[in-house]
Amino acid sequence: MNIAVLVSGNGSNLQALIDAEKRGEFPKSKITLVISDNPDAHALKRAEKAGIDRFVVIAKNFASTEAFDEAIIKKIEEKKIDLLVLAGFMRILGDKFVDKYYGRMLNIHPALLPAFKGAHGVRDAFESGARTTGVTVHFVTKELDSGPIISQESVNIDHGDTIDSLEKKIHAVEHRLYPEVVRLFCEEKLKIEGEKVKICRRKSKI
Ligand code: GRF
Repeated sequence: MNIAVLVSGNGSNLQALIDAEKRGEFPKSKITLVISDNPDAHALKRAEKAGIDRFVVIAKNFASTEAFDEAIIKKIEEKKIDLLVLAGFMRILGDKFVDKYYGRMLNIHPALLPAFKGAHGVRDAFESGARTTGVTVHFVTKELDSGPIISQESVNIDHGDTIDSLEKKIHAVEHRLYPEVVRLFCEEKLKIEGEKVKICRRKSKI
């Protein structure tokens, strides 16, 4: 499978995926494209270092969001992409785009959805006084930070935590969870059944 990762910023999740690929965790798949809406994203440097093609789309250069989405679609088709992985991509994709790639587009969110949706999942959980938050990987649907949940893991918010220390703990979980889910997708083990995702694990031979 050909994988495209969509980014806007630091790209630590992209790096985790690159590293997992290098370790041979998705042997029949390859990250062949990194798409960024931010020309200054550090993620682009990570992609360059790993020898991955980069495609920068700057929203203000397009007359409409549809035209912006179309430019991405054109590139995705040209590169024969099978899986889209949103990794800190900060732009909302249009309904047509999301429909087109339903079941083939993943997102990672730094909270336990459906709690703390939106762009500030870590901060909102921290400020709420919650004692537990976490990480969610889900299929993307039209509604923001919704869609069938594939995997979740909780992270404790301890008394000594700051937003920064909480963010570090969340990132550590993200960097393990996202490659695991991408591997399951590439092995065709994820099946959407209505609102839920079934993970088909190999049956034990014992
Ligand atoms: C991650 O925390 C992810 O959950 C959220 O955006 C952040 C991206 O971080 N969607 P990075 O660019 O991968 O370091």
